[in-house]
Amino acid sequence: MSGPIPRAGVLEIPMYVPGRSRVDGHDRVIKLSSNESALGSSEHAVAAYRELADQLHRYPDGGAVELREAIARVHRDGGNRLDADNIVCGEGSDEIIHLLAAAYAGSGDEILHTAHGFVMYRLAAQGVGAEPVSVPERDWTPDVDALLARVGDRTRVVFVSNPNPTGTYLPHNELARLHAGIPENVLLVIDAAYAEYVTREDYASGVELVGAADNVVMTRTFSKAYGLAGLRLGWCYGPADVIGVLNRLRGPFNVTAPAQAAGVAAVEDTAFIERARQHNTTWIGWLQNELEQLGLQHIPSVTNFVCVEFRDQKKTAAAAIDHMMGDGILVRDMNAYGLPDHVRITIGLEDETRAVVESLERFLG
Ligand SMILES: Cc1ncc(COP(=O)(O)O)c(C=O)c1O
Repeated sequence: MSGPIPRAGVLEIPMYVPGRSRVDGHDRVIKLSSNESALGSSEHAVAAYRELADQLHRYPDGGAVELREAIARVHRDGGNRLDADNIVCGEGSDEIIHLLAAAYAGSGDEILHTAHGFVMYRLAAQGVGAEPVSVPERDWTPDVDALLARVGDRTRVVFVSNPNPTGTYLPHNELARLHAGIPENVLLVIDAAYAEYVTREDYASGVELVGAADNVVMTRTFSKAYGLAGLRLGWCYGPADVIGVLNRLRGPFNVTAPAQAAGVAAVEDTAFIERARQHNTTWIGWLQNELEQLGLQHIPSVTNFVCVEFRDQKKTAAAAIDHMMGDGILVRDMNAYGLPDHVRITIGLEDETRAVVESLERFLG
């Protein structure tokens, strides 16, 4: 190889494979491959974005002050609003995940993630030269005992997706037990990307754990229930020291002005999120029920997607994906998550969700 040579390990990092968005021969596809919002975006967010069209020559507010204040007003820790100083915004939660890995780990360190947690933790660890350690799950859910048993002298960060990309979740008391067992010098990152969809009473996003400790952060995204995936917007709530570290490492203008404006409008449109939650609760329930009627096993989900199992040698996950693609429906394989027999299907609109079941009915014959 001639030319500059990247740092050792960089070329071993696998490329992230996003959900498909096109199928040859279909003008209109039903895209259920990236857990995007079924209801699109809040109309207020779209209007706020458009309003900035003639201001594109201006730099954004590097501190995202209005956005952080709006997030702090709307989100609660118990009865209290959050402190905007404890929030940092990012170019998607992906950016924050990378910054956390870069800030707290490097060569010789370990970053723990769970077997079916968000793939980006692994890639972020590799990106900073740290060793990603995959800890087994129990019932497709982070296993607190296994995580605590694996935390060692070299562990710097523990990433937990709650809910998990499998659709399951850890109840609040389990998350608190995980935190209580982690040494103070290890950072626990609770990635609550799908928090808005969860309706279980024993679930908590992790806000209150952050408020009470120096070694926990919670990451959130505008890409899922808020329907702003294309804008790339996420945020992190954490102790002042960690937020200070992220502010040092991030780009000075890491969140664009239209993303900030749309984010403010989106977070204030609480009625939109309520509609998104209600729509999801109805259709995730309906879809899981229909899957059972079809004799298909699935991982019980509290999110806006469901992982369906295809064990039959003749009716494999890959064949199901191909069949659905033939019907113009895009879903996600779970190979990167170590679940090759599963297919992940996002909840769409009513007709899209019904089309999934009709397609699967034909597939199973
Ligand atoms: C668990 C989890 N965390 C984080 C993300 C990344 O979200 P963002 O679009 O904010 O980077 C995703 C996206 O798929 C996710 O599933």
